Amino acid sequence: MSQRHLPQPPGIQISPSILSADFANLASEIAEVESAGVQIIHLDVMDGHFVPNITMGPPVISKLRKCSNSVFDTHLMISDPMKYAEDFAKAGADHITFHIETVDDPVAFIEYLHSLGVTAGVSLNPDTPVESIEEVAPLCDMVLVMTVHPGFGGQEYIDSAARKCIRIKEIIPSNVRIEVDGGINPQTIALPVSYGADTIVAGHAVFSKPDRKSAIDALLRAAAR
Ligand code: DX5
Ligand code: ZN
Repeated sequence: MSQRHLPQPPGIQISPSILSADFANLASEIAEVESAGVQIIHLDVMDGHFVPNITMGPPVISKLRKCSNSVFDTHLMISDPMKYAEDFAKAGADHITFHIETVDDPVAFIEYLHSLGVTAGVSLNPDTPVESIEEVAPLCDMVLVMTVHPGFGGQEYIDSAARKCIRIKEIIPSNVRIEVDGGINPQTIALPVSYGADTIVAGHAVFSKPDRKSAIDALLRAAAR
């Protein structure tokens, strides 16, 4: 059972994606963003099948768990999340997001995630319509709207995908967070925030900068404008 919980809305939270961090120094990379006030860390799990890239699995997350008390926001870009969810929960994930495109019975899967003691998130790709998550979004703790095609960091933000937040906000209770992921930087962040997003994944915009605190501050300032 996870000891950490997603913060309650309202309030903008930055969830730095360690995909763009130095994988040889993940503990210090995470410590640096935590000292900038971050409460959530975004962990991008890719299997080389659902997306054309491979990243990390439960063994890496269980080691990171020993170095961090932040909420581990675990984004499963994998074809069979049902098969691996328990391993991720045991490794120390606090929140697990699956892609609607990968699960036959998403309602049952959300119940299963809750039974594992983690909070649940559903994600949809830029080309996947909101209708595909209308039934399940209200059952989740956070909905993740992809604003790039998943697989790689440092891609360009897709505003038409972010606009789905407007409709999603209408169909979820006020305690469910809305997260956007991909291409967010100080130039783009205000758009998804204006559509209702409150949890902002940022990889390149944080970890490509030498000073991560000023990168996070710049995102928060731009979000408030
Ligand atoms: C993309 C990942 C994102 C990505 C975000 O497949 O899900 O979390 O790392 O990276 P940036 O912020 O660099 O677009
Ligand atoms: Zn992600």
